[in-house]
Amino acid sequence: MNLNCKVLIVSVIVVLFGSCSDTTNSQDSQSSVSSESVNEGLTLVKNNCYVCHNPNTKSHDDIIAPPLIAVKKRYLMAYPSQDEFVREMTHWITEPKEDLALMRGAVERFKVMPKLAISKEDAQKIAQYIFENEVEAPAWFAEHEKQQHGGDAGQGRGKGMGNGHGHAGQGGGRSNAWMSDIALVDGKKWESDDITMEHIENLKQIIADNKVRDDEAAFKGLAKKMTKELDLLFSDCTMEGPDHDALHKYLVSLINKKDMLAEVDSQEKGRKIVARIQEQLNDYERFFQ
Ligand code: HEC
Repeated sequence: MNLNCKVLIVSVIVVLFGSCSDTTNSQDSQSSVSSESVNEGLTLVKNNCYVCHNPNTKSHDDIIAPPLIAVKKRYLMAYPSQDEFVREMTHWITEPKEDLALMRGAVERFKVMPKLAISKEDAQKIAQYIFENEVEAPAWFAEHEKQQHGGDAGQGRGKGMGNGHGHAGQGGGRSNAWMSDIALVDGKKWESDDITMEHIENLKQIIADNKVRDDEAAFKGLAKKMTKELDLLFSDCTMEGPDHDALHKYLVSLINKKDMLAEVDSQEKGRKIVARIQEQLNDYERFFQ
């Protein structure tokens, strides 16, 4: 049975279970972080998510969706605050949309997560639970993370699993494939010239300055400012050889995101893309020195 079949069957099961659990949806007081609400959160996760995000899989080849711990880590990178994390994850659970997915590599491998039959209240409880509690990791996960994602704890990748969602050899994530394309050899960073560093800092500043407004017009304006800065970066660049090639791959990916930003048709998409651009800019120092 191929993967899509599996996902389809599982989706059907989920819809069935999902609609059952809806009827038992309780409305207890939301504020308490009692062990009761923790238990409720865990039960909801087990009933609604584990069927695909299963922590008891035997290996990375065995899975039909990324483990929940990987999802959590990816979300924490993009949404470090509890408010954002819970809001965005709740939204995703009730309305998964391919073009808003952060885990591009996973979308390519598994197809986008199907829409579940789940109430917004339950989705919110689940997101809250995932943020506040440690989620169970499959036994193979730590080793996989080390292999696929560098295993270079000393390299300032403190946020964990930040890179390589492309999972080289699986078609690569459209958004983060650059990370596996320019993977560090023996943890040694690529050499960057100072002026390029400076332009990267300017780009970060441009994004930061834009925080006050984030409607569609602002996204287009932002893309334009980035284009200018990137043009300067190109004309100033003195790098050569493999370091230059690595920079080139990094920039192609950044420019793709910038081009997507110029064409967004909703605030939501714009915000997601800005978050990804910001992330990639912050990652520069992890790959270049
Ligand atoms: C029918 C299978 C299935 C079920 C059930 C399921 N997921 Fe997913 N989920 C996936 C797949 C496949 C992906 C990876 C592709 C993607 O990101 O859309 C994914 C990805 C995600 C992502 C990352 C989205 C992104 O930005 O890329 C989140 C968050 C998530 N799932 C949360 C949940 C939660 C919470 C539950 C339980 C309420 C759940 N999922 C139930 C299949 C499922």
